[in-house]
Amino acid sequence: MTNTLVEQEKRGALGVIRMNRPPVNALGYELRSQIAEAHAAFEADPEIAVTVLTASGRVFSGGADITEFNTGRKHPYLTELIAMLEEGRKPVIAIVNGIAFGGGFELVLGCDYIFALPGAKFSFPEIKLGNIPGAGGTQKLPRLAGGPKALELILTGKAITADDAVTLGIAETVAADEAAALARLEKAVADGLPRRRVRDIVMRGSPDELDAIAEGYLRRSRGAPAEKTALEAVRKAYDTPIDEALAWERDTFQILNATPEARAMRHLFFAEREARKIADLPKDTPQRSVSSVGVVGAGTMGRSIAMCFADAGLPVILVEEAQDRLDAALAAIAKTYEASREKGRISAEEASARMALITGTIALDDLAAVDLAIEAVFESMEVKCSVFTALDKVCKPGAILATNTSTLDVNRIAAATARPEDVIGLHFFSPAHIMKLLEVVRAEKTAPDVIATAMEIGRRLGKHSVLVGVCDGFAGNRMFINFNREAQILIEEGALPWQVDAVMTRWGLAMGPLAVMDLAGLDIGYHIRQARGPQTPYPFTTADRLFEAGRLGQKTGKGWYLYEEGARRGTPDPEVEELIKAVSKEKGITRRAVSDDEILRRCMWQLVNTGYQIVEEGIAQRISDLDVIFVNGYGFPRTRGGPMCFARETGLEQVARDIIRYHAEIGPHWTPSALLLDEAGVSPGSR
Ligand code: NAI
Repeated sequence: MTNTLVEQEKRGALGVIRMNRPPVNALGYELRSQIAEAHAAFEADPEIAVTVLTASGRVFSGGADITEFNTGRKHPYLTELIAMLEEGRKPVIAIVNGIAFGGGFELVLGCDYIFALPGAKFSFPEIKLGNIPGAGGTQKLPRLAGGPKALELILTGKAITADDAVTLGIAETVAADEAAALARLEKAVADGLPRRRVRDIVMRGSPDELDAIAEGYLRRSRGAPAEKTALEAVRKAYDTPIDEALAWERDTFQILNATPEARAMRHLFFAEREARKIADLPKDTPQRSVSSVGVVGAGTMGRSIAMCFADAGLPVILVEEAQDRLDAALAAIAKTYEASREKGRISAEEASARMALITGTIALDDLAAVDLAIEAVFESMEVKCSVFTALDKVCKPGAILATNTSTLDVNRIAAATARPEDVIGLHFFSPAHIMKLLEVVRAEKTAPDVIATAMEIGRRLGKHSVLVGVCDGFAGNRMFINFNREAQILIEEGALPWQVDAVMTRWGLAMGPLAVMDLAGLDIGYHIRQARGPQTPYPFTTADRLFEAGRLGQKTGKGWYLYEEGARRGTPDPEVEELIKAVSKEKGITRRAVSDDEILRRCMWQLVNTGYQIVEEGIAQRISDLDVIFVNGYGFPRTRGGPMCFARETGLEQVARDIIRYHAEIGPHWTPSALLLDEAGVSPGSR
């Protein structure tokens, strides 16, 4: 085997191993083997007193090669490589030049001393893949940084800087560059550098504080195994001999790796990367420069969209129709920043810097120089078209004109301008400064560079951009409305709202669909339905009746549930039960007991069948994009990987057979997607 992934260099008594496996020095089999070989060579070399492990560029090591999680691994495993470094006779020093994440961080903790360069960053992101560090991280980080801090880093996956690493006792020092680090090391070697294996450090303090640190994370993870195991692991650092604890950690990592939660989170990891790719758009498609933004309409969405850009450091001009509404919007934004400051999420300087980036106006002409204008006015085709015609006149050539519409035809909006190639949908989710999804809606005439720029804008805002095409509700809302409609139908057949919600929260949603309607207000859906005309054959009759009875949800103290004064959680209401029974009777439906299993399948398979239809029609590019949409825009739990991932975990053949049966028994809204049947290998006629 040729050593192509590491460079070996002798500098006096120092034997330097420099990793060189672009792009991130992922610790796959070949890199591990070559580090092991180079280390063995320096161990055997009498001229070498100390081995140095480093890399060049901005990355030390991004960690495990996660494709190996699915395909299997070969010796030496990372744990074995680290043991080799620890068992050698000579000290090993890590010079951490850039990110050291996951397995990369564990490799560092297998060294005697850690020198950080200014660009160093350390983190354990395993929790985001439903796991804990599995190559000594849970036992060694507590020995350097203390149990509480180590547990916090393992539970959050947060990265720390070179300076933080010194403060926390992880790194010895921050050196200006590699040469400075090596010079310091040469001196230390001359002075006789002793071995100091992290694994031999005696734990200080007691594990008493750990429970309090873990509590919030355990609650939010709702029983997912990784968080619980992280706590157990750090506790072991205090009371279990290290070899026993390391063996347990290694086995536990493998067990967690095979859980459905870890599989789902790995699926999302790849899905979120895949979503960035656009099949018919070359990677080198040019982009337009965007350094100033205008937002038209400062209501619920316009305000939070403006904040998104200010949070990313871009100046925003917010346009309203009337001064009083503009003033109210600016005051609301200031209040939101103030609240973030009070909660310690941002500093006072950050709050005022962000606020200073947002200016208000009631003159659309003020958008003459912006690179990007986003319209967030009322959801009315007429109003939107008039705004676009005006933007077309005001904005400079080459500016991107975007709409935040959630349902309207972007082609028609584009046609209100003389430059439809510059028009695109940027569909933010509420609240826009928090939700991590941006649906980028490509219209018929949208130019390729506008699409490429829009995708990149999402990334700059820290969001996942997903490209979709024009249809009613685009991808997310079109699927979501069918999910909600199925919940309504189940209620008319015999289920009760609290049963439906309980099934969905047990599955992993933070709130069930009926509780969500109560939170948003039943008036919103009602007015949309009124504007669209009769919805046949499945009108939302019960929801409409609730609205007509003045039950608008939390804001009126009653909706699908009854809310005690100021309460956010509702209680079942016998009046609602009566109203539902009356609707069933009126429709000639004999109510029956509906099982929890049926509720789950029918709600979820509506999402799934609609999702496949959307891909079949070319509205979305790929099935996994829909999981990215639901996890980042609709609060679906990452541990489930999204609705499409859930269908695959259940077995697509089973899903297809259920849908064929529902189609025969329930109605035409269950017409199976041809793509789904095809992927499931099920013929349309089979039951
Ligand atoms: P909103 O009613 O809260 O705000 C609309 C604002 O636009 C109002 O303040 C109004 O004064 C202003 N406006 C109307 N015409 C204007 C004009 N010609 N020039 C300047 N300002 C004008 O509505 P919201 O909820 O913010 O929705 C805005 C858009 O975002 C709609 O298209 C909606 O479908 C979409 N959307 C809404 C979401 C939500 O959860 N509310 C989520 C995603 C998209």
